Amino acid sequence: MQRFLKVMLLLGIIFSLLIFPLQAAGTIKIGAIFPITGPIATFGISSANGVKMAFEEVNAKGGVLGSKIELILEDDQYKAEEVANAAKKLIERDKVVAILGEVASSMSLVLAPICQASKVVMITPTSTNPRVTLVGDYIFRACFIDDFQGTVMANFVYKTLKLKTSAILVAVTSDYSKGLAQFYKEAYTKLGGKIVVEESYSEGDSDFRAQLTKIKAAKPEFVYLPGYYSDIGPILLQARELGITVPFGGGDGWDSPKLLETAGKAAEGCYFSNHYSPESKDLKVQTFVKNYKKKFGETPDALAALSYDAAMLLVEAIKRAGSSESSKIRDALVSFTKDKPFRGVTGSIYFDQNRNPIKSAVIIEIKGGKQVYKATVKP
Ligand code: PHE
Repeated sequence: MQRFLKVMLLLGIIFSLLIFPLQAAGTIKIGAIFPITGPIATFGISSANGVKMAFEEVNAKGGVLGSKIELILEDDQYKAEEVANAAKKLIERDKVVAILGEVASSMSLVLAPICQASKVVMITPTSTNPRVTLVGDYIFRACFIDDFQGTVMANFVYKTLKLKTSAILVAVTSDYSKGLAQFYKEAYTKLGGKIVVEESYSEGDSDFRAQLTKIKAAKPEFVYLPGYYSDIGPILLQARELGITVPFGGGDGWDSPKLLETAGKAAEGCYFSNHYSPESKDLKVQTFVKNYKKKFGETPDALAALSYDAAMLLVEAIKRAGSSESSKIRDALVSFTKDKPFRGVTGSIYFDQNRNPIKSAVIIEIKGGKQVYKATVKP
């Protein structure tokens, strides 16, 4: 009997030695929620690619705190109910330590209250509406905000293009579009510019001729159109058909290869503000662009770059925290400073009191069917 017990004890010890190191290493589960299918699918696909690439690089180097990262990716189809379902699943069932997402500000405004209530860190790589991070102290972003983006474009149109009258065409179903339209208007009128007409549409509409006819009658020198590529394409085509020849412009929501495909010549001579240019000579940008092209066969857009940065920022915060507990990650995120920032592809990141990074914007011109870098604007 004694011998039997000794053997059992020994087996127990061997067994636990085998099991426990595996358990201690475990994996760190991180969730991501993006619109991988639906009307703004290029946004979701680029974002997912950026995150995947970042975690693959980290895991190839052994992971973080001795553990591999396990990415749990959810597609929300750009639908609010799907965002909420995915968030609950990731938090309650998968027990993720943090969530990367969403892309669109309207969706991040659905995701943020859920993450905040559960005290799970959320980093939206790309949502620029200022209200998103105001939801609470667990909500961060990797991009600049629309107060800045709208002002950058107002300055560019008024001072550089020297166009003194604008029309605005806004998507009333999008918090992003509404916010950006308002910030553009404020900055542009402050400079002395005049908004001669304001029209609106709902995302997914197909006929914009009534609004465009009114815009044409008001004879603006520029049309500000802060929407997403899926609507911008048809709007530009119909505008040119109706004989509106002035330049249109918008924000980061124009950043999709699909826009150039659908709008073709109708997009020539238009401008938009964005987060980075793949043409930058910066070594960090060039390395990222080279690796991304090798992996996915295309040039990374701003969404890919920001999502890569958001994922790496999260890993860096886990490292700094020495823990994958959400509250510790939160504390580590606010510990980045101007002197010791996180250095990303899209610029350096440290947070202001509302958990917004302070970063430069770029202006892109659509020329010869391509995005051409025009200027960088510092905050
Ligand atoms: N800034 C947009 C939003 O808040 C999302 C976006 C970012 C789209 C970057 C394209 C490129 O809704």
